[in-house]
Amino acid sequence: MIERVMGRNENGSEGIRQVNAASEPAANRTLSGNPTENATTGRQAEKTGPAMITAQNIAISYPGVKNGPAVIQDINLSIRDGSIVSLIGPSGCGKSTLLKAIAGLVPPAKGRMDIAGVTPQEAAQRRLVGLVFQEANLLPWKTALDNAAFLLQVSDKSIPANEARERAAENLRLVGLGEALTKLPSQLSGGMRQRASIARALTLNPQILLMDEPFGALDAITREEMSYLILDIWERTGKTIVLVTHSIDEAVLLSHEVHVMGVKPGRIVCSITVPLAFPRNSQSFADPRFRETEILLRDRLIESHGRPRQAS
Ligand SMILES: Nc1ncnc2c1ncn2[C@@H]1O[C@H](COP(=O)(O)OP(=O)(O)OP(=O)(O)O)[C@@H](O)[C@H]1O
Ligand SMILES: [Mg+2]
Repeated sequence: MIERVMGRNENGSEGIRQVNAASEPAANRTLSGNPTENATTGRQAEKTGPAMITAQNIAISYPGVKNGPAVIQDINLSIRDGSIVSLIGPSGCGKSTLLKAIAGLVPPAKGRMDIAGVTPQEAAQRRLVGLVFQEANLLPWKTALDNAAFLLQVSDKSIPANEARERAAENLRLVGLGEALTKLPSQLSGGMRQRASIARALTLNPQILLMDEPFGALDAITREEMSYLILDIWERTGKTIVLVTHSIDEAVLLSHEVHVMGVKPGRIVCSITVPLAFPRNSQSFADPRFRETEILLRDRLIESHGRPRQAS
């Protein structure tokens, strides 16, 4: 049963949450506790398992924008180890900025960010975080195999080339490109290129996979296939995944929790726990709770664009 709880969530922001024990991360078998209670008390991470990513009162301004307003502010987040979390919100609200802060690419002006017990910069140095962007950005003169091995080879010279290539081949097989190891990017479809970029990130064996609109450039059906691929990767690896998306469907299908962001300032306006059990698949769409969560998210998104909700 879905329970809606109004109140302060673990991000410290006011908002509605939908909670259900069935949405516990399958990959984090140690989790326990009552999410409904946790949602209302704001101690979810503490009670149900270790937090992989925590953000406390994070504010970010870009250098060069002198005395400019913070692009994002008052960000409080706790993302559990082995969970899939989505960030959704209007263009310019700071989703990519928040992802870059987690990746150690943009330093916060205020607040504290902790990734697996260390700073984002240290986490990046230890290759705890892998990144996948909207564009695959493969090197056109390298094969899928060499592209997938490339980042590991340049970031860790102590790993022998054949070992890096073995790991790359394994991850290409994991994303369904076992038959395309010797193909150049120009010989791959858009979806295949994106699979190769996911394999490249996985070859670094990060604990956290950050994905910034990874399927934005793909057609609807390929995009849905990629969602199942992410679910499959998550089932097999148990990685913590943070996904930026503009697709409500994608956010509901994939996530344990969805954070809706708003603009001016960029901030988290509400967080919704998706009340669907794992494993998820095409049948998840038929679950009435899927539609209910989708409608709730849509309402919150409309509000985050600064528009009032339509009377229903
Ligand atoms: N390098 C930068 N220097 C200055 N301002 C920046 C920089 N990168 C982003 N911004 C600004 O920060 C704000 C948030 O940008 P960001 O890219 O994080 O938004 P977003 O939510 O990812 O948007 P979209 O959905 O369009 O990708 C925007 O106002 C943008 O103009
Ligand atoms: Mg963005």
